[in-house]
Order: sequence, then structure tokens, then C-alpha cells
Amino acid sequence: MTSPQFIDTHCHLDESSFENDVEHVINSAREAGVITMLTIGTTRESSERAIALAEKFDTVFAAVGIQPNYVAEAKSGDWERILELAQHPRVIAIGETGLDKYWDYSSLELQADYFDRHIELSRETGKPFIVHNREADTEIVKQLQGQAKQGQLQGVMHSFCADQKTAEACLELGLYISFAGMVTFKRNEELRTIAQKIPAEKLLIETDSPYLSPHPMRGKRNEPARVALTAQVLADVREVSLEELASQTTRNAKGLFNIPE
Ligand code: NI
Repeated sequence: MTSPQFIDTHCHLDESSFENDVEHVINSAREAGVITMLTIGTTRESSERAIALAEKFDTVFAAVGIQPNYVAEAKSGDWERILELAQHPRVIAIGETGLDKYWDYSSLELQADYFDRHIELSRETGKPFIVHNREADTEIVKQLQGQAKQGQLQGVMHSFCADQKTAEACLELGLYISFAGMVTFKRNEELRTIAQKIPAEKLLIETDSPYLSPHPMRGKRNEPARVALTAQVLADVREVSLEELASQTTRNAKGLFNIPE
């Protein structure tokens, strides 16, 4: 029997905390069965760094975009550059994008404008979008429903931590639901209950590293190798084997992001 193979659908390998050992981090992920990592851009510069990593390492692919907390500081020409970068062959997704009402770095109006742009770019390129949602469940669902009228949506709710109603609305729109380390935290019983009910073919896993390190490594710098800890918790609540959870979520990620074999 082969050991389980995972895809970390959301990490930030370009962050400064990985600066000195990114090669080691990518190699240990590979040793832990992580066959593919999707490193996510948050600004123009971060998107460029993500592509550079994806060009250097064959287990790494990139997503390009401007994260909602950074849209106010985007300079003239940054969005146009994202449009160009989106065409790069190692770029398999658009984002991260979405709405964030927790931080107050950008007005909600400007965030919503960029959210629309990312979804439109996703539609043009055929590459799925990645949604960041922080305390904006209602607004995000409403905007996605509006966008769905323009055509079928292809995307994922990343690091899902909203309620059952939001999960259902997103599934209704055809979106995938991805879980990060938060689903492993003891107090998040409700999130595990939601995770238990997501249809198998819509489930994804991620680390959001270097953030959100799963239990029992909570508080430490997170890295893609630890996606297995989140997978194990999901396997337990869904009462399937780790192998089954891994192969299902890997198949889902390959399908959504068109990851080449
Ligand atoms: Ni992220």
C-alpha cells in the first residue's frame, strides 16, 4: 500500500518567515506526502515571488491576486500586472480575494470592487478563484450570488470558518470548501460538525502556512508538511481512513485547479 498523498491548496511560501529555509520546507513537505503546494499571492510583489517559486520547484504552483487587506495600498499598474501574471503557465488560480471586515486596512467598497475583478479574471482565464472571508459571510454570499448570474463560478472558500448556512450557500453556487488548521482546534467543535457534512467531492485541505498551525503544533510557524494533521482530523470526523480522505481531496484539488499529472 502506498502512503497517502496530499495537496496543500493554500500556503504562503513567499512570506519572510520562510526566507531562509524555503527549499528545506518544500522538501520536508514532499517527504510528508505533500505532492503539490499552491502558494498564494497577496500583492503584486507577492504574486511575482509566488511565480518565481513555482518556476523553481516542480511541486509548487502559484495563485496571483491582491488580498482584500492590501487593495488600498495597491499602486497604479499593480492590477494590470496581475492580469499579465494570470496568464503564466505555472499560475493555476486567481487570488486570494474576498472581503475582510475584521481588519480595517481597506474600505469594504474597494474590497468588493477587487473581489469582482478577481472573479471576472477567473472567468476570462478559466482558472478558479480563492476566497478569503473574515467576518463577512453575508456580504460575500450576496456578492457571489450576484456574480453567479454572469456565469458558472469556479472557486474555493479558503480556510473555511463560517457557519452551516454559509457553507450551504457556497456549495449551492458550486464552490469548494477548504479547511485549514482551525478545524483541529479543540474549541471548534461546530466547525468539525460542518466539515463532517461537506460532500466528499467538494472538500479541500490546506495549511494557510506560515499561519494557523494545527493542533498540537499550534502557535508555531506552520508549514505545508502539516496538512496531514488537518487531514487526519477531517478523516476522523467523517469516519473515513486517512488514505481515503487524502485521495479524495487530492483528486478534488487536481480537478478544480487542473493540476497536471
Ligand atoms: Ni492566505
